[in-house]
Order: sequence, then C-alpha cells, then structure tokens
Amino acid sequence: MGSLTRFGVSLDSNLLEKFDALISARGYTNRSEALRDMIRDQLIKEDWKAGSKEAVAAVSLVYDHHELELPKRLTDLQHEHHGLVVSALHVHLTHHHCLEILVLRGRGDRIKKLGHSLVGTNGIKHGEVFFTTTGDTLE
Ligand code: NI
Repeated sequence: MGSLTRFGVSLDSNLLEKFDALISARGYTNRSEALRDMIRDQLIKEDWKAGSKEAVAAVSLVYDHHELELPKRLTDLQHEHHGLVVSALHVHLTHHHCLEILVLRGRGDRIKKLGHSLVGTNGIKHGEVFFTTTGDTLE
C-alpha cells in the first residue's frame, strides 16, 4: 500500500450534487471512499480488457433440471475447464428449477469465454457473469 495523498478536485456544482446523490443512494458516507471504489472499478475493467491478467468471475445460472441434457452439458463444460472452476454451489430452488453459482479463476480472457459459454448454454433461463478481481493489484 502506498502513502496517502490528498488532492483537490474542481467540479461543476450541479455535477457534484448528482455525485453526492448517487453515492448517498449507494450507501457511502463520504466522497473519498466512493471515489476510491470508482477508481478501483475502472482499474478492474481495464484489467478485464487486457484479458491476460489473472482474474475472478462469479457465474449464476438458473435452469430447469428436467431438461435432460442440460445438467450434463453444464457439468461437462466445467470438467473440460476444471482448472478454471474454483467452486460450484447448487441450490434446488423449486421442484423444477436449480440455481448454480460458480466461481471461476484464471486468465481473464479464458474465464470470460467460459462464463459466457455457460450462460449461453441452450436452456439456461437466466444467467449472468460478474467480473471481479483477485484484489492483488488494488490498494
Ligand atoms: Ni437442483
């Protein structure tokens, strides 16, 4: 961690008002913490664009397990990339529906491709990939 540096920011008053409303709605109690988080978020997005750095993603998948081939396809896909799948949680939501939460870790471009393949598997009713970081490159 580096040393703490203070700097001034000049902003249009209307823009500052909108910023304060936004961060208040998100639960921040001060501008510095909100600004730090926004900077970190942009840095993580840049890492993801590069694709070559180690990254982490969480994938959520909702599907009907009565679709006979679907659970097998999801399992096969995960086994084909077992080095990238850190953890898998399966919840039997209802009589029909299952929720799977997967944590992927590896090169950004590889886990992005796997995450999108999982979400794009035919029969998935709702899926999302949440891109995050190992945290090692952030202060
Ligand atoms: Ni289930």
